[in-house]
Amino acid sequence: MALTEETRTELLEIIKRYPDQARSALNPMLHLTQSVEGYVSPEAIELCAELLELTPAEVSAVATFYTMYKRRPVGKHLIGVCVNPQCGILGGDEIFSSLCSDLGIGNDETTEDGMFSIEKIECQAACTYAPSTTVDWEFMDDMSVDKMRDVVAKLRAGETVESTRGPVIRDFRATERTIAGFDDGLGNAGGNNADAVMLAGLNVAKANGMPDVDGGNK
Ligand code: FES
Repeated sequence: MALTEETRTELLEIIKRYPDQARSALNPMLHLTQSVEGYVSPEAIELCAELLELTPAEVSAVATFYTMYKRRPVGKHLIGVCVNPQCGILGGDEIFSSLCSDLGIGNDETTEDGMFSIEKIECQAACTYAPSTTVDWEFMDDMSVDKMRDVVAKLRAGETVESTRGPVIRDFRATERTIAGFDDGLGNAGGNNADAVMLAGLNVAKANGMPDVDGGNK
């Protein structure tokens, strides 16, 4: 789908969120264009530049700096596999290589049917449940090769897949719209899932009288 008048209107809505510094709107604007086209196209860069009174080069500098902005169309679902040491050693490397083999694609590539793109990602601060992966930026914790194969099969069959933290997996473009700041009504999906495993380190720190980030010991 190409950028439309509706996209332009919504981009202007985003700019209004930043009355003192319009250029601060650029990041959510780029996410909104990705939600429409599945990537940041040359037309999207031109449009954001025009609306923010920046040069296309300035917008390109942002779009090429952050890895969440894609310069080629992404598949319906974007699967990220953390390959940083903790996740990689505990199975992330194996999950990634089996995904490549099963889907017949490599890093940052998309299947011919447009269903899946895969990429290696850096630490998501989800090491507690390593190996950690994401599907359309929703966490899929404590994964394995078999669990990931099951997720891929269900998504391909159009079956419902839930993130291990609650929300239902939608698709890359829907998540991009959420990241652009448009309410998806899913703010409380999954509830507060900071469980005992996630809080274990904090509890040890408290038990040992370590100061919290404010310098106190609550
Ligand atoms: S190393 Fe993978 S989430 Fe931290």
